[in-house]
Amino acid sequence: EKGGFPHFMLKEIFEQPECINDCMRGRINGTLHEVTLSAVNDHKEQLLNAQRFVIVACGTSWHAGLIGKQLIETFCRIPVEVEYASEFRYRNPVLTNRDVVIAISQSGETADTLAAVELAKSQGAFVYGICNAVGSSIPRITDSGSYIHVGPEIGVASTKAFTGQVTVLTMFALTLGKEKGEISTADYNRIIDELLQIPEKITEVLKQNESIASLSRIFTYAHNFLYLGRGYSYPVALEGALKLKEISYIHAEGYPAAEMKHGPIALVDTEMPVVVIATQNAMYEKIVSNVQETKARKGHIIALINKQDTVIRKIADECIEIPETLECLEPLVTTIPLQLLAYHIAVCKGKDVDQPRNLAKSVTVE
Ligand code: F6R
Repeated sequence: EKGGFPHFMLKEIFEQPECINDCMRGRINGTLHEVTLSAVNDHKEQLLNAQRFVIVACGTSWHAGLIGKQLIETFCRIPVEVEYASEFRYRNPVLTNRDVVIAISQSGETADTLAAVELAKSQGAFVYGICNAVGSSIPRITDSGSYIHVGPEIGVASTKAFTGQVTVLTMFALTLGKEKGEISTADYNRIIDELLQIPEKITEVLKQNESIASLSRIFTYAHNFLYLGRGYSYPVALEGALKLKEISYIHAEGYPAAEMKHGPIALVDTEMPVVVIATQNAMYEKIVSNVQETKARKGHIIALINKQDTVIRKIADECIEIPETLECLEPLVTTIPLQLLAYHIAVCKGKDVDQPRNLAKSVTVE
């Protein structure tokens, strides 16, 4: 049942190229350069007239929501807020019938997300679900939505559901952005072409599994980890830190890299591993100086870099190579080595990665 893998988590990490293809199947036509999410077509007016999107979710799904915010704001020019469902439901939030609430949930059963959906509906908002478990509670009560179609996720730590959620959010932003006329045909076509390449690029990263496993051995001693990223990579840093916390029980924090100098850099010393997402995008020069600042405090730097990188390669202690892609699609690729890093560190520490202590796959009580 684990398909020859020692754990469901590793199996599910390795399934991601196939899962993303399943998620895109029938929705993207590469030859015609067309993305079609049927639920977006069915509710075009409602979505095009939205004055605001509010994304509600918990945990990893909330991290996917942060990426969704950047995608939707960039390609649709509609403001997006991202809220923890547990906060939203008790906050008496201001909502109108021009708001569209997007609920993201792998299980479709998370109690707080379900309650947030009920609240949003009672206030007259249109609710769109992005879920994995077909026929679960959230998709049953939402007005519309898209399944991510990545198959059952058994490992408690969410992996393929995250990349599936980000894929659906990308298709959602592209479909709506095109309808709204906010995205140029050239950009739209280029993103579609690149999105179709993502499964292969993930496969390339997965080939580094062995080397990530061996570098993981260095870190079993660590009590703390920092994860840094900027722009689209900031939510990936949060997600990398969450993966490490939940299965290896090492304290980890994700930060937008530029926030380091506002406090957290005080924590950096020779015993602090710092994972930096430093791919060559618009934020690269900024990230280089954040990495230099961290190195000056003797942090142990693990950098995610592109092949042609020469600058960070010289500063970082360990490097993991990431195939190049468009900045807006990078989370789909940069997440993978962080999942593997968390997995191997937990395995080295002898932890039960599929059933971490204190955690349940589906949080049906608040
Ligand atoms: C982390 C993890 C949790 C879930 C969260 C929401 O690996 O699995 O943080 O993401 O409990 O669950 P869903 O998406 O089922 O609503």
